[in-house]
Formats: sequence, C-alpha cells, structure tokens
Amino acid sequence: MSYHIAVAGKGGTGKTTFSAMLIKYLLNKGRRPILAVDADPNANLGEALGVEPETTIADLISETQDRLEPLPGGMAKETYIEYRIQAALAESKDVDLLVMGGPEGAGCYCYPNNLLRKYMERLHTNYPYVVMDNEAGLEHLSRRTTNDVDLLIVVSDPTVRGVRSAGRINELVDGIKLDVKRRFLVISKATAEPEGTLAEEIARTGLPLAGIVPLDPAVTEYDFNGRPLVELPGDSLVARAVTEILDRILA
Ligand SMILES: Nc1ncnc2c1ncn2[C@@H]1O[C@H](COP(=O)(O)OP(=O)(O)O)[C@@H](O)[C@H]1O
Ligand SMILES: [Mg+2]
Repeated sequence: MSYHIAVAGKGGTGKTTFSAMLIKYLLNKGRRPILAVDADPNANLGEALGVEPETTIADLISETQDRLEPLPGGMAKETYIEYRIQAALAESKDVDLLVMGGPEGAGCYCYPNNLLRKYMERLHTNYPYVVMDNEAGLEHLSRRTTNDVDLLIVVSDPTVRGVRSAGRINELVDGIKLDVKRRFLVISKATAEPEGTLAEEIARTGLPLAGIVPLDPAVTEYDFNGRPLVELPGDSLVARAVTEILDRILA
C-alpha cells in the first residue's frame, strides 16, 4: 500500500513550493521511491523538482484518441496505453513525475480515461509514497476510482480570501466523497503569526493548522533563476519550516 499525500490550494498560494519541499523531506528521511503527480493544469512541479517530462497525460489522451484504431502491429489498446504512460513518466533518482496537463476538452475521453485511471492507479502501487500537487477544483482526485487520500494539505497564503478558499476546498472534499484520513491547513508565505481576523478565518475552515511557512527570499531567488526548489539548502527558512511541520504530523 502506498501512502498518498495530496496538496491542494488556490493558484499562487505556494502548493508547488510546499510539494517540492515535502518531497525533499521524504527523500531525506529515506522514504523512497516517490511518485510525484502534477495534477495542476498550470503545471510547474517538474521545474521545482528539476525533472522534465516529455509529455503529459492530457497530450497522451488526445493523441491516443486519434489513433486508437488501428494500433501499431495489432497491439492491444491497453498495452499501448500502458506503454505510452510509461513514456510520460519522467524518471529521476528516487522521484518519478507524471504531469496530468490539460485541462481536458469536452470531447468523450471516457474510454482512455478509464484505462488511464486503471493503469495510473496500478502505477501508484509501485511506490511507497505518492505526492500529488492539485488545483483547487480537485478535478483529478475526484476522477480516481479509488477515493483514498492518507494526508491532505491545503495551502493558503496569509490572506482572509486565501483562507476562505481553503475552507471551500475542505468542503469540496466532503462533497466529492473523498476518503481523506487526515487533513491540515498550512499558511504559506507568512510574514507573521496569524492573528485577529485571519486567525478567526483559519478557525472557521475547520482545518487544523499544521503550521506556517515563512516568506523566504531564497524561494524567490531560486524561482527567479529557474533553479529547482529541491536544491534549496536544508537550513533555508522554507526547508526548516516544512521539516518542522512534517516531523510533527508524520511522526
Ligand atoms: N515560502 C515562500 N517564500 C517566498 N516565496 C514563495 C514561497 N512559497 C511560494 N512562493 C512564491 O509564490 C509563487 C507561487 O508559488 P507556487 O508554489 O508556484 O504556488 P502554486 O503552486 O500554489 O501556484 C512563486 O512565485 C513562488 O516563488
Ligand atoms: Mg503550482
């Protein structure tokens, strides 16, 4: 059984930064190999991890759509899709990355989707840890046939609007009947401990606050220069904060 961690939040809140630091944390603890899934249409987890996938699942869907019949050499459809997914898997030492891409069009992707889902879920079982970087609508999580998530981290920036959005994501999780074992809120890019209206809004989400990740100039610098965030030093503000949070909740 793999341990499935999902990171969610509004765009720009720091999901990918948190996901990358989470992956760095797991690697440091020897919890490997990890399957990283970028399920945000605005995909940038690969850059944060320093891994470049050749293709996305969305591209693969539209491509297989066009050529489901006939397949090369009379290959079974299922075999072909498995083979293509394998090609979409960007492999690096201890971390493999799948990028969902998209958004999916309105066309009928039902057939490849079912096969894709089946194969992707089988892929998950090859890894003891799966880390999924999601968009706010949880589109891909809601499409899975299995609905279990061991740990959900909702990331928000330190604004009332951001925290309200995190609260809505928490409600959405119940709405789409995801079986989430544990869920937490993380306030990212914080410049102070949350207090006053912000603290009240945090309490209203119903999500326990796992901790805050400070605004770290090193993240800005790495992003500015296109350096992978996993290469941030272990004593950087962001790495220390994420380590402290995860030591606590994954103990
Ligand atoms: N802890 C942090 N300190 C400083 N900047 C951050 C931090 N977390 C995220 N950022 C910046 O905020 C922006 C959005 O972060 P990102 O992780 O890509 O968000 P998301 O994946 O939610 O869209 C990026 O420019 C990133 O550099
Ligand atoms: Mg992102």
